[in-house]
Amino acid sequence: MPFLKRTRLVIALVVVITAGSGTARWSMAQDDGKRKEFMRLKLETAKALLEGLALENYELLEKNAIALKKLSMGAEWEVLTIPSLDYVGFTSDFQRAADELRDKAKAKNIDGSTLAYTKLTQSCVKCHQSMRKRVP
Ligand code: HEC
Repeated sequence: MPFLKRTRLVIALVVVITAGSGTARWSMAQDDGKRKEFMRLKLETAKALLEGLALENYELLEKNAIALKKLSMGAEWEVLTIPSLDYVGFTSDFQRAADELRDKAKAKNIDGSTLAYTKLTQSCVKCHQSMRKRVP
């Protein structure tokens, strides 16, 4: 992919992430500081992925893809107060994208990594969107 085209894609992704973080705030998080902190870790890790893509740092990409997958397997990820089949589906989409990103980074495939990152970001947005519908 030509450098300029890739740069434009990365910029577009920054916009997606930035736009998402401003709105991903809904009431449930208020009384649970620890979980809130955990949730914010996702954002920090996702930001590191963007850095990895922009700088073509495959080590950073692989490390953070693995970290995100691990986060998604933690107890804090489970939101038992929102019983929803969707949630399980969104979690597996998320994990699949994290695995794909790890593998593409391992193979030093920048286009594949970028695509997997996009899928991952999409899963953040979709899950949050569905949670927001449930929690006023
Ligand atoms: C399977 C569902 C799901 C996916 C996928 C998901 N999240 Fe979340 N996220 C949640 C839920 C649920 C909350 C709210 C938790 C609460 O209210 O305690 C949340 C909250 C957040 C918050 C707000 C924390 C705060 O300050 O209150 C951030 C930031 C966040 N997620 C980032 C991300 C990022 C970045 C991704 C993708 C890399 C992502 N999330 C993917 C379910 C998900």
